[in-house]
Amino acid sequence: MAGTGTRGYSGDGGPATSARVYDPHGVAIDAQGNLFIGDFGNFRVRRVDASTGIITTVAGNGKYGYSGDGGPATQAELRQPLGVALDRSGNLFVSDTYRIRRVDAASGMITTVAGNGTNVVTGDGGPATEAGIGIAIEIKLENFPKYVRRQHLKRFIAMYEIFKLILPVKGSIVECGVFRGFSVMAWAKLSTILEPENLTRRIYGFDSFGGFPSVSDADRAGAGVAAPGDFQTTSYQELLELIRVYDQDRFLGHLPKVELIPGDASITIPEFVQRNTHLLVSLLFLDFDLYEPTKVALEQLVPRMPRGAVLAFDELDNPSWPGETKALLDSLPLNRLKIQRLEWDPYVGYAILD
Ligand SMILES: C[S@@+](CC[C@H](N)C(=O)[O-])C[C@H]1O[C@@H](n2cnc3c(N)ncnc32)[C@H](O)[C@@H]1O
Repeated sequence: MAGTGTRGYSGDGGPATSARVYDPHGVAIDAQGNLFIGDFGNFRVRRVDASTGIITTVAGNGKYGYSGDGGPATQAELRQPLGVALDRSGNLFVSDTYRIRRVDAASGMITTVAGNGTNVVTGDGGPATEAGIGIAIEIKLENFPKYVRRQHLKRFIAMYEIFKLILPVKGSIVECGVFRGFSVMAWAKLSTILEPENLTRRIYGFDSFGGFPSVSDADRAGAGVAAPGDFQTTSYQELLELIRVYDQDRFLGHLPKVELIPGDASITIPEFVQRNTHLLVSLLFLDFDLYEPTKVALEQLVPRMPRGAVLAFDELDNPSWPGETKALLDSLPLNRLKIQRLEWDPYVGYAILD
């Protein structure tokens, strides 16, 4: 009904099936059959007209934030428009990070109708806008196997299997492509759980934190779908805050463990390697998806990997992301690497260096 299958923001005013959406979450249908989509990654709510199939934005200006109450919803900032609902009059309700926003059907104006922006339950018996309404997320997180999709659980288990391989290997972990932090924080938590005293193993995460800085011809070859700016995220500040919280809940938390290196990795990786003369790498996890930064990472970091270290890729042999495979072919003798897979995971390919 909507989306091209490729992440992004485009297509307002045209057919919804030719428009890009970005991590759509909640959907709702009004009395006329119009479809509303919590277009989470675009920080917008989109509407698909029931009769024409045309898509438009009805809330959110595309910037992450909280603003705009009392004005047109399309000029307001949203943070995480996940859930959407409609009442019988067509007024739209959006769950937006510890708040519920309402878009008036007649005027298109946005207001906050519940939640004070904090994630602690408070305020029963008082005005809804002064109440904290976020605890549900905490409870869901504590019960995450109940809610999380099979694919994401599987992803975490894949990280665990890879991590176990490097437990006896000296060297740090380099995550190439942090995005919202799934794997970088998975490595961090697994290190704390499985090897709390391994204080020299650091976890370095490289990302522009602004999406793909550029895309080469090698990435557009065949079925390549990459476009500059894809994977844009606002996760950097949030991750710094979460790393601070993580440090408070681990053994030897006064010693740094996770370091994020923002910027174009084709530039930051060589600088980093030159600066950190001590660096050894036990796990190089390549998840840039693209040719150029993957090639730079291989050239710069493989020489720092001892025998037994794990070289892992996320998109080898994937027609959508040809650049990653080409970077490998152009950098290392493929037939010297035994690239294995986890039996139940379609993505990760890894080789133990010997
Ligand atoms: C597929 S995502 C990584 C997913 C991530 N490993 C996770 O756990 O969710 C790819 C990331 O690589 C980053 N990236 C791609 N090319 C880059 C470059 N030249 N420099 C820095 N980051 C880059 C993008 O910004 C994006 O966040």
